[in-house]
Amino acid sequence: MAPFSLCFRPFVMQLLLLVFVVLSTGLCAGDPPLTLDYYESACPTVFEIVKKEMECAVLSDPRNAALVVRLHFHDCFVQGCDGSVLLEDTITLTGEKKASPNIHSLKGFRIVDRIKNKLESECPGIVSCADLLTIAARDAVILVGGPYWDVPLGRKDSITASPELAEANLPTANEGLSTIISKFLYQGLSVTDMVALSGAHTIGMARCENVREGIYSGEFEATSGINPLSESHLNNLRSTCPPVGGVGNNNVTAMDYATPEIFDNSFYRLLLKGEGLLNSDQEMYSSLFGIETGEIVKKYAADPVAFFEQFSESMVKLGNITNDESFENGEVRKNCRFVNT
Ligand code: HEM
Repeated sequence: MAPFSLCFRPFVMQLLLLVFVVLSTGLCAGDPPLTLDYYESACPTVFEIVKKEMECAVLSDPRNAALVVRLHFHDCFVQGCDGSVLLEDTITLTGEKKASPNIHSLKGFRIVDRIKNKLESECPGIVSCADLLTIAARDAVILVGGPYWDVPLGRKDSITASPELAEANLPTANEGLSTIISKFLYQGLSVTDMVALSGAHTIGMARCENVREGIYSGEFEATSGINPLSESHLNNLRSTCPPVGGVGNNNVTAMDYATPEIFDNSFYRLLLKGEGLLNSDQEMYSSLFGIETGEIVKKYAADPVAFFEQFSESMVKLGNITNDESFENGEVRKNCRFVNT
């Protein structure tokens, strides 16, 4: 692929696709029946419990913050935020964990189990796994230096999962900018939401499978003139991700190598330098179709407060993606991995 390859699909096709997804948006990110004080009488200690468990998890390994934030994102993009991502395969249900954007990649399920156990012993049968995950994601961001926001609550856990929708809805690193934008529009999220939420890549790791192409294609060489990395950093990346096909695919490297464990705006500053490790991230700044996204990237690179404000707002919108089905037929799971019997 050419450096930060452009999407080669004919422009008209992309336009039609965008019009189609906007018109056919089935999920709704606006006006959900969620409230800030949902558990005030039934489980007043819910925030305290989640926070304490997240503190332990992030203290033991800061990457745990990234795992939980990504889990929440992958939950909300499939049937809305309904805890479907947490379900295991059983005889009667196929979960989403083996879908290609999740397999070998999505982690953090044990952290969710620990929080759920604590919640069940304090307030049995009250707090849904979907709400637990939404609060935990907010706390995760704060614990690594990111912004606070109020979390609307009252989600129900689904009794179904959809590996098909996980394949279809979740964005992947090798997709073009217009495809990724259309996946966010489909969920009721704007281009600004997309760029701001991608700022979550300021923490956490990506597997070599997703970054290797860039580090061996010459894009990062000092001679490329486009986006040189320091030689020592490039050598580090190459030693983590050897070129041999298949070997080391699951080795990981930080997406924000400048401050990998801190939630800040350095992710965007790396994009300005052409140093985004995921092709999809770099396209927000470098793609020919990325005039709007490029301007937003520049804004957040220059203004951390603007990034934090928009990230908080967009996380609330992400968390508000709901679907009628889980409100009507949903439940509060006792164990986040299985529907209640
Ligand atoms: C815009 C489209 C997005 C694409 C194409 C994308 C893709 C990816 C990929 C490929 C990885 C590395 C996974 C691996 O190699 O195992 C990753 C990691 C991550 N993503 Fe995204 N992502 C996107 C948006 C988001 C959003 C909206 C959030 C949260 C709000 C998010 C949070 C994370 C986090 C925290 C990690 C690090 C997880 C870890 O350390 O294991 N991503 N993403």
